[in-house]
Amino acid sequence: MVVCVCNAIRERDVRQAARCGANTTCQAYRQLGCQAKCGQCVAFARAIIEDERAAA
Ligand code: FES
Repeated sequence: MVVCVCNAIRERDVRQAARCGANTTCQAYRQLGCQAKCGQCVAFARAIIEDERAAA
């Protein structure tokens, strides 16, 4: 599933970034070499990060 249309970031990319230490959407996107643009995905990406970190 695509989380961020602007950057073509998929859910699995966000989960991977969270497993590699990203605590925030901003950190995750930076790890992926991107940054948030329109911002519509930020809350969804944050929820995925929190879910992944809770499972760790
Ligand atoms: S959908 Fe992620 S910045 Fe626009």
